[in-house]
This record gives sequence, C-alpha cells and structure tokens, in this order.
Amino acid sequence: MEKIIDESKQGEQLNTIHKKGNSRKLFIESYGCQMNFADSEVVASILAQDGFNTTDKLEEADLVLVNTCSIRDKAEQTIRKRLQKYNAVKRDINPNMKVGVLGCMAERLKEKFLEEEKIVDLVVGPDAYKDLPNLIADVEDGRSAVNVLLSKEETYADISPVRLQSNGVTAFVSITRGCDNMCTFCVVPFTRGRERSRDTQSILSEITDLISKGYKEVTLLGQNVDSYLWYGGGLKKDFKNASEMQKTTAVDFAKLLDMVALANPKLRIRFSTSNPQDMSLEVIRTMAMHKNICKHLHLPVQSGSNRILKKMNRQHTREEYMELTDTIYQIIPGIALSQDMIIGFPTETEEDHQDTLDLIKHVQYDYGFMFSYSERPGTLAGRKLDDDVPFETKKRRLQEVIDVQRTIGHEQLKKHLGKTEEVLIEKTSKKSDAHWAGRNTQSNMIVFPKEHYKIGDFVNVKINDCTTATFLGEAVGHSDNN
Ligand code: SAH
Ligand code: F3S
Repeated sequence: MEKIIDESKQGEQLNTIHKKGNSRKLFIESYGCQMNFADSEVVASILAQDGFNTTDKLEEADLVLVNTCSIRDKAEQTIRKRLQKYNAVKRDINPNMKVGVLGCMAERLKEKFLEEEKIVDLVVGPDAYKDLPNLIADVEDGRSAVNVLLSKEETYADISPVRLQSNGVTAFVSITRGCDNMCTFCVVPFTRGRERSRDTQSILSEITDLISKGYKEVTLLGQNVDSYLWYGGGLKKDFKNASEMQKTTAVDFAKLLDMVALANPKLRIRFSTSNPQDMSLEVIRTMAMHKNICKHLHLPVQSGSNRILKKMNRQHTREEYMELTDTIYQIIPGIALSQDMIIGFPTETEEDHQDTLDLIKHVQYDYGFMFSYSERPGTLAGRKLDDDVPFETKKRRLQEVIDVQRTIGHEQLKKHLGKTEEVLIEKTSKKSDAHWAGRNTQSNMIVFPKEHYKIGDFVNVKINDCTTATFLGEAVGHSDNN
C-alpha cells in the first residue's frame, strides 16, 4: 500500500519536473489598451522562466490567461463571453486546462471573479505578475489563487518582455504605469493604481536591445506619458522632497524623448497616451527637433464643453485645449492629431454636445475614438452622478460626432493625395497578399504593391488614392532611412 502511494508521488514529482522542462503550454490573449498587450509580453517572459512556452492553440494549452479591460461595461461583457468559450473548450476538449484572468477586470472584481465565473482558477492584478509562478503552483495543487495587490514601485523594469505575435519591426515599451488624474468617469486609477515612472536606463537598454534585434519603431506607453518623471524612484508628488542631486539629474518626458531619439536617429518613435494637461511646450519642441519622432499626437479631450470638462475633473478648459492644438500645429505643421471623446456624460445638454462638435471642427483631427458614456462602479461619477442622458439621445449624439469626425478626417486624408511619403513596412495588407501595409509619420495606413521591398524597409510611397482610413499608393524607391 505504502509503495503504491510512493509510486504515485514519484509520478507526480516526475510530472512536475517534466513540466518545468519547458513543456507547459501557455495561451495568452489581451483585450483593451496597448498597455495590456505590452503587459502580456511581460507575463509571457515571467512564465517562460517558469517553464511555459506560448501556444496559439487554446485546445492544447495547460494554462489560459486573458488580460482584461474594464474601461466600459461592453469591454467587460466581451471578456465574459470569451470565458464562455474557454468553458466550452475545457468541457469538450481540454479538461485539464487552468484559466486565469489578468489586468483591470481582475483588479476590479477581485475574489468575486471566482464566484461569478466558475471557469476562473486564478485572478491577478496588473502589479502582481511576478507572483504568477507561485499562484500557478497553488492552482496546480488544486487551490484557486488571487493576488490583486497594487504597488507604488513595480514597473517591471527588470523584465525583458517576450515579444508576442511580433512583426519584428514595431514594439511597445512601457515607460509609466498607473494614473493619478482621477477623471471622474474613469476606472483606471482604481485598477492600475498610482502613477509611477520606469527607470530611464532600463527603458534605454530595452530600446537598444530592440534595435539590435532589427526593430525599426518603438511606441512608448503609459496611461499618461507626458507625466513621466524619473528621479531615482518614488511617486511624482514626492519629487519636491528629492535631493538637489536627484532634482538636477531628473528625466522628464521631453528629456526622455530626446534621449530615445538620439539613441538611434533611424529608429522611429511614437508614444501614447498624452494628457493635454501634462503636455509641455518642451515635448512639442522636442518632437519638432527630431525627424525620427513621428508627427502624430493622440490627445484625448473627452468633451468640448467647459461645464462637462469640469464635471469630468479634466484639468483644462476647451479654450486652453484649442490653444494647445493651435500651438502644436504652429510648431509642427502637418502633424496629425487624434482624439478620444465620451458622449452623453451625465447632465450633457444639446449645448454641451454642440460645443463638442465645434471643438472637433476647430481642431481638425485626423481620427478619433468616440464612445457613449458607460457608468463605471466605484468611480466618482458612478457614485455621485445619475447616468441621465437617455440611451437614444446618446446614440444620436454619438452618431453626429462620428459623422462630423469622419468628414473632417476624410478632408485631412485628402491633403496627402499626390504626395510622396516615407512608409515603414509592417506587414502584408489584410486585403491583398500582393500588397504591403505600413504607416507614414502621421500614422496613416498606406497599402502598396510589394515589388522587391520587404518587411522593415523604409520606402518612399506616392499616394494615389484613399478609402475611409487607408491610402493606396505605389513605391518609388527606398528612403534614405534604411
Ligand atoms: N489616459 C488617457 C485615457 C485612458 S482611458 C487620457 O488622458 O485621457 C481610454 C479612453 O477610454 C479615454 O480617453 C476615454 O475616452 C474612454 N473612457 C474611459 N472611461 C470611460 C467611460 N466610463 N465611458 C466611456 N468611455 C470611457
Ligand atoms: Fe483615466 Fe483620466 Fe487617467 S481618463 S487613465 S483617469 S487621465
């Protein structure tokens, strides 16, 4: 009898050793913002150390992780539907697979997730990914596991991300985490915690490594990149107590951009997201100074009405915002601007709505992300303000905003027709195997015949035509950036 138990234990042990020998399969997918996609690459790296290889087949995964988004109710519903799919796969094909949820929804729902979705074994918030190997061990021992502790320091600066589904040309590099702005509609400060910046040297060495592997473009990521400040660690609000030495050697976002741009003049640099209230003239001047910093700014505004901006706790007026965009156009002619807009925030009137339409017309954005207000539990607006704009009104106003933006965006696109612009080839066009797809500096997608060019080439492309969001062109030769 004893022997049998021993043997079974031995089997277990062998199994674990075998698993550690790089045989466990991880299926990981991400929803929501670019930050989630970047975080999943950090997670894949942490788990690679723990013996997991990634797979793109759900059916063969030992562990399924989904990096979730809570920004709107619809985003959460999408995840719940996806969990049903995992459930079906587990029931019919892969009974041993374990399922974990990461990211904002994990942080928001915490232990409740385990009760609400029986398929879930593991709940891990955005600052707890280094604990994953321990949590997974718990799950393998038959216990469910939760870690949703938020941190004031964690930036994963020491983790070298495993690039997932990479084209080998463009990569994300996180530079800040969390957000301190407390816009009243937004769940992010609750799910991603306090804002903190990553060590400048670790950013630069990640970028140097990417360059050595042949990458041609990086996007610096954060909820609020313009607020970047590295002075040796610590929260931004504590900077006032920093030593003189720390103060003189501190790196703000403009300085960081400058350093990254100088690291390799051929590397393209993008960044997202900017918050208008933290955007400095220095940043705009730095963008103008370096050819390799792309001429596109995503500058969410959320509303064109001062009354609504105030209720949203955005720290600027519509006039200040328009002054900022005027200045940007002056310093960087030809730059593309894009926006995020929330339609139907509590108490929004027709007059507020007209102000939003007016602002879009004034700024002349290239494109935008426009959504109806979605009340988020726990936020100030969720607790204090009635979601009182009727669904039909929200829907109509949203359509009006989308229509105005679409017309203006199309006018902006038409300005490129007939011009020859530098494009970095990223991938084969979704619609045709015979065409490449890549972006110009403004971030417009351009599609053109492949000829002898290859992925990662910088090519001058003459723009002949445009659809709603994409240009069609023809290559006229390599650019001098190769
Ligand atoms: N840091 C960015 C925003 C990050 S959240 C900034 O500075 O604005 C991404 C976008 O989601 C926001 O810009 C906003 O337009 C949208 N969003 C956030 N909360 C929302 C809500 N409750 N309802 C609808 N859209 C929301
Ligand atoms: Fe959200 Fe406002 Fe921060 S939109 S991410 S709280 S800047």
